[in-house]
Amino acid sequence: MSGNKTRVPVAVFASGAGSNAEKIIEQAGLAEKNGAGGYTVNLVVCNKPGAGVLGIAEKYGIETLIIEKERFFNGDGYTTELRNRGIQFIVLAGFLWKIPNTLIKAYPNKIINIHPALLPKYGGKGMYGSKVHEAIIAAGDRESGITIHYVDELYDHGNIIFQGRCAVDEMDTAETLAQKIHLLEHRHYPQVIEDLLKMQNSR
Ligand code: GRF
Repeated sequence: MSGNKTRVPVAVFASGAGSNAEKIIEQAGLAEKNGAGGYTVNLVVCNKPGAGVLGIAEKYGIETLIIEKERFFNGDGYTTELRNRGIQFIVLAGFLWKIPNTLIKAYPNKIINIHPALLPKYGGKGMYGSKVHEAIIAAGDRESGITIHYVDELYDHGNIIFQGRCAVDEMDTAETLAQKIHLLEHRHYPQVIEDLLKMQNSR
């Protein structure tokens, strides 16, 4: 066993159903079992009371933190709470609020996001969830995918870490495309986090 000390304590920020959060939590557990873990999920941060992700956190016995708009954007971005819990890395998994500069400065190059399209296409303010897939279908694109990237001051803009692709068929609707994208996300996001943080650990 590599022991807890060598695993990076991660906070997952999510506002929705939390299917990505669940896969990320499962991967951490699996890797720990094999003595190979690069990270542990120590906290789930959510801005929506009642969101599905909170039930998932409860199922796995992970602490949750519900955050409020005013303090997030005009206060310290909850940096104090994150630091007090020893959080070293932040993973956004379906978190819709823009990350304030205070938090980006507190965690430089230590916040990553997943976007359900091939950035820089179909990114930016207002481009989230089904809106992305609807735009891709309307444009008649024959390919879409996922982008995992670092978070900087602009929406969907930071350096790209990984992209995965899938075909968009003529029969696809925003719903069927969303399903394909979710599968890609579940397959790759946990592994990319694991690889990234294992690398960070070995430095
Ligand atoms: C994912 O498609 C992600 O790319 C987007 O929001 C969705 C979250 O889904 N940013 P879930 O809550 O993880 O199921």
